[in-house]
Amino acid sequence: MSETPSTDLPPLGASEFQALRGLVLRETGVSLTDSKRMLVQTRLGRRVKALGLSSFAHYVELLEGPSAGDEYDQFVGAITTHTTHFWREAHHFDELRDRVLAPALKAGQRKLRIWCAASSTGEEPWCLAMTVADVLGSDLGRWDVRILATDIDHASLEKGSRAVYQYEVIEEHPKSKQYFLKGVGPRSGEVRIRDSLRSLVTFRRMNLIEPDWAPKAKFDAIFIRNVLIYFSPEAQLAVVSRLATFMADGAIMVLGHAESMVGTRAGLRAAGRGVFLKDTRP
Ligand SMILES: C[S@@+](CC[C@H](N)C(=O)[O-])C[C@H]1O[C@@H](n2cnc3c(N)ncnc32)[C@H](O)[C@@H]1O
Repeated sequence: MSETPSTDLPPLGASEFQALRGLVLRETGVSLTDSKRMLVQTRLGRRVKALGLSSFAHYVELLEGPSAGDEYDQFVGAITTHTTHFWREAHHFDELRDRVLAPALKAGQRKLRIWCAASSTGEEPWCLAMTVADVLGSDLGRWDVRILATDIDHASLEKGSRAVYQYEVIEEHPKSKQYFLKGVGPRSGEVRIRDSLRSLVTFRRMNLIEPDWAPKAKFDAIFIRNVLIYFSPEAQLAVVSRLATFMADGAIMVLGHAESMVGTRAGLRAAGRGVFLKDTRP
């Protein structure tokens, strides 16, 4: 990652980095290695300056003090990585189609529950919705489909639910064009997901390392991609093991390509690149 270091502030010292790293780990499960010091300095430097503070030490004091308040949300949003794009690791959506949607259609199931557990700015859950719409076609309205999109970061969730992206998205992915409305006038550089898909996805804040989440449903597919890499090995295992308890019979869990070993460690059965099944064999 190459971000330009912030200027005009004293550099982030070792003890402040240590304090911030402890807060990040406690709040998000994200484990920052020593090599991330410059990245933290850059990302939080903007926040420190926006608050009119003169040093990282003052920022640590603020976060540790009684008036931290909403700054925690800003801190978490600034420190976590939200990189994502439409049709990232596209083969995973084919797996959803072949392993979940096609069998459900064949069995006349009529109900689908999908969870995107680190949805960032929405590209991933919208691709899930487009995949469902592609497979169900004109039957979509007769199905009970719900896609839960969760993330720790309020700003990302807000962008996801707004569902507005740059026009280039439909140039890069012409097959997805039918699911977007084009902006007009001053909004001609933008596209928005059509309402027929928007009604399928619910965005909700959820911190994966907090123990109090418990969605009511069992899910046919759980996508948890490119977030576990930031967690400690213990947190990775705890999160995946917990998510596995929300898998319906025959469900898949999908992990990012750098995270697959966590699925196996959690006792799931590998079924292809990043795709896991609940192992129900005796
Ligand atoms: C790199 S993005 C991955 C987005 C998407 N899943 C993808 O693969 O393109 C990682 C996301 O994980 C979220 N995240 C980080 N820690 C989290 C936590 N403890 N609970 C929930 N979401 C978290 C971040 O806010 C960020 O939006």
